[in-house]
Amino acid sequence: MAPKFSTATFILPFLIISFIKAVSANLHKDIDITWGDGRARILNNGELLTLSLDRYSGSGFQSKNEYLYGKIDMQIKLVPGNSAGTVTAYYLSSNGPTHDEIDFEFLGNISGEPYTLHTNVYSQGKGDREQQFHLWFDPTADFHTYSILWNPQRIIFSVDTIPIREFKNSVFVGAAYLNRQPMRIYSSLWDADDWATRGGLVKTDWSQAPFTAAYRNFNANNACVWSNGSSSCDSSPTKGEKKGWLIEEIDAKRREKLRWVQKNYMIYNYCSDVGRFPKGFPPECAI
Ligand SMILES: *[C@@H]1O[C@H](CO)[C@@H](O)[C@H](O)[C@H]1NC(C)=O
Ligand SMILES: *[C@@H]1O[C@H](CO)[C@@H](O)[C@H](O)[C@H]1NC(C)=O
Repeated sequence: MAPKFSTATFILPFLIISFIKAVSANLHKDIDITWGDGRARILNNGELLTLSLDRYSGSGFQSKNEYLYGKIDMQIKLVPGNSAGTVTAYYLSSNGPTHDEIDFEFLGNISGEPYTLHTNVYSQGKGDREQQFHLWFDPTADFHTYSILWNPQRIIFSVDTIPIREFKNSVFVGAAYLNRQPMRIYSSLWDADDWATRGGLVKTDWSQAPFTAAYRNFNANNACVWSNGSSSCDSSPTKGEKKGWLIEEIDAKRREKLRWVQKNYMIYNYCSDVGRFPKGFPPECAI
């Protein structure tokens, strides 16, 4: 019997690959450079973005869209070498005095010493919910995927699909949740040598400047875009099956990985910092 290969066998995978590239790769479409006077650049027809920092300025960008819930991925390759004193911040934030915010901040270090991944969550103006981690790989050697899942029940921070932190909606115990204010993605590379590395002991070595971080494969295809007071998710309720992320939780297998990260790589957790909360932990710490 002669093998039967239709044209579709050859063309279909190609079409799928082209489609994936088309929907995820054009940073010009999704991102605005906001500051840095030429230090932030979108390159390679929108496939790559770089931020840089020198002694005169850092740089930054933001998403064109605002979102109210989403599963948003970005691949980042952090400042290599002696990055002490530098901070690469990548976060979702709303505006105003009672703002919401979901933070990844990467605190640089001297060559060969680990970055600190600092995370925080602000709900209606209240933060002070830091958790910090070291990573299980060198985040400067290659791109890695940093993801924020934000749905009405929970926020999950993941690194290369491994969950590192979960912040649950704890409205029922009195902690405000991030459920009313649309947020934009922001990122910036800046100098914070007064506190970032070993509490400010290690200063930025400007002879190494410019410092550069790189971004690619921004993916907010699974997100509710907020525009003119309404959500893109409300206008297509029939596509419910594509919105599994809106009810996503951490299954048993991923929870095991979360425990592995928290056991081996977590270096600070506000929920176990007794000295800081002498009158008792914030309500969400009980969940
Ligand atoms: C830098 O390296 C030191 C020594 O390994 C470590 O204690 C610290 O957490 C690292 N990160 C920062 C941001 O200081
Ligand atoms: C939002 O409103 C503005 C002004 O009313 C209008 O120009 C724009 O087209 C609207 N955008 C969308 C996505 O509906």
